[in-house]
Amino acid sequence: MKPEGKVAIVTGAASGLGLATACGLAAAGASIVALDLDEARLARLREQVDPSRLLLCAGSVAEEVDVAAAVDAAVARFGALHIAVNCAGVADAAKTVSRGEPFPLAVWDKVIAINLTGTFNVIRLAAAKMAGNPPGEDGERGVIVNTSSGAAWQGQIGQAAYSASKAGVMGLTLPVARDLAPLGIRVLSIAPGLFDTSMVAGMPENVSRSIIDRMVLFPSRMGRADEFAALVRTIVENSYFNASTISLDAGARMSAR
Ligand SMILES: NC(=O)c1ccc[n+]([C@@H]2O[C@H](COP(=O)([O-])OP(=O)(O)OC[C@H]3O[C@@H](n4cnc5c(N)ncnc54)[C@H](O)[C@@H]3O)[C@@H](O)[C@H]2O)c1
Repeated sequence: MKPEGKVAIVTGAASGLGLATACGLAAAGASIVALDLDEARLARLREQVDPSRLLLCAGSVAEEVDVAAAVDAAVARFGALHIAVNCAGVADAAKTVSRGEPFPLAVWDKVIAINLTGTFNVIRLAAAKMAGNPPGEDGERGVIVNTSSGAAWQGQIGQAAYSASKAGVMGLTLPVARDLAPLGIRVLSIAPGLFDTSMVAGMPENVSRSIIDRMVLFPSRMGRADEFAALVRTIVENSYFNASTISLDAGARMSAR
């Protein structure tokens, strides 16, 4: 599917991978519906994307009403919805038992609600809109890209909730692609390694340095958000990608810490 003239919803669009994706798809000619909890940072997108092709929606991916309002607004403003990119996410970490205290269940619930349930919430509501599109080439009506993580299968100490949420995203990719294939909607996930965003900026410098030095194969650096955005664009444009989770990680193999 060519992004030009299409309409894309991007979650987590106020920062990092989502921000780069929103800018990348806009540069390729798509109209952008940007959904994020952080209203103040979201507003800065106006400086980077032509306001006539931009709709800002403040809300949570985990809330049915917020996502329903965003996809409704996409169709009301731009006439259709063709592309959904799930980038919203959190990485709250805790050990299963730490200094005698069990993992706080509230942290578990938050991470699963945003990363896993939030991703599926966007998928189901966006796909229902895409189903109404007239079929394009090969009968294609839409494409959905989710963000998993290398932590889906090689989570580090403290990442039980995060890894479970990202393994959930990877796990739903095939059955949802199977559900939506008859509608002409493709579904993929990207599993990034370590990317230079505000999520990683919260990590102690020695931890990110150690990941780069000991676990990243080549090139020996963090990924750049525009490299993630470029893969999203490739997935959108190349209709033969479907139903898989693609690693974008410079060959990283994570150890326990
Ligand atoms: N940066 C990395 O190294 C890395 C690696 C693997 C996977 N990921 C995943 O990539 C995605 C993007 O992360 P990032 O690195 O760009 O982080 P980031 O913190 O820069 O951006 C995440 C965005 O999600 C938004 N968000 C959080 N909760 C939300 C909610 N409930 N509803 C709507 N928006 C919400 C935040 O406000 C923020 O703007 C996440 O799913 C993350 O787990 C990141």
